[in-house]
Amino acid sequence: MKVLIINASVRNERSYSRKLTQLFIENWKAKYPSDIFTYRETGIDSIPNIDESWIAGAFKKPSERTEENQKALRLSNELVQELKEHDMYVIGTPMYNWAVPSGLKAYIDQVMRINETWKFRSGAPDGDYVGLLENKKVFILSARGDTGYGENEKNGHINFQTAYLKHIFGIMGVKDITIFSLDNEEFGGEVFEKSKNKIFSAIQSIE
Ligand SMILES: Cc1cc2nc3c(=O)[nH]c(=O)nc-3n(C[C@H](O)[C@H](O)[C@H](O)COP(=O)(O)O)c2cc1C
Repeated sequence: MKVLIINASVRNERSYSRKLTQLFIENWKAKYPSDIFTYRETGIDSIPNIDESWIAGAFKKPSERTEENQKALRLSNELVQELKEHDMYVIGTPMYNWAVPSGLKAYIDQVMRINETWKFRSGAPDGDYVGLLENKKVFILSARGDTGYGENEKNGHINFQTAYLKHIFGIMGVKDITIFSLDNEEFGGEVFEKSKNKIFSAIQSIE
C-alpha cells in the first residue's frame, strides 16, 4: 500500500491534528511495515490558490491548452498524480472557523479536476458527478476546540470541516471514508484528557 499523509495545521509542535497523523503512522507502520508513506504539507508550506489561467486551462481539452495554461496546471497535475498513485489518504486537519484551513481548501481546489478526479456523467454540466479515484480509502483525523459536531449533535449543522471533506472525497470517488475527531481542545483539563484518551486509543486500534 502507498499511503499519502496530508497535514493542514499551521501549527507544528503544538498541533494536535499532526499528533493524530503521527499516531496513525506509528500504528500503521507497526502493523504494515512494508507500506510506503508520502507526506504532503498544506499548512506550513502553502499551496497556491487557483487563478484565472488555471481555470482557463483546467476546463479545456489537454490538446487545446496554451503554454500559460499548462504552466498554471503544473502543480495541480502533480498533486492529482500523487492522489492517483496512492491507495490510502490520511488527512490531519484542524477546524478553523467551522471549516478547513485555507491551505487545505487551496489543495482541494487544485485536485478537484474535471476529467481527472471527477467528471459529469453525461458529459454535460448536469450536476451528476462521477468520481474517478477508484478503490481508495481515506482517514480524516480532525482536531477541534469545541464539540458536538456529529451529524445529529448540536453543532452538526455548522460542521463545514469533516462533513465538507467527506463530501469532497466522495465526489472524487472515494467511498471508504473513516473520521476520527479530537474535540474539546479549547477547554483543556479533564474533558480534553478524556477526548484525547478516547481518540488516541481508537487510532492505535485501527487495523
Ligand atoms: C484560527 C482558528 C479558528 C478556530 N476555529 C474553530 C472553530 O470554528 N470551531 C472549533 O471547534 N474550534 C476552532 N478552533 C480551535 C482549533 O480547531 C483547535 O485549536 C485545534 O486543536 C487546532 O488544530 P491543531 O491542534 O492541529 O493546530 C480554531 C482555532 C484557530 C487557531
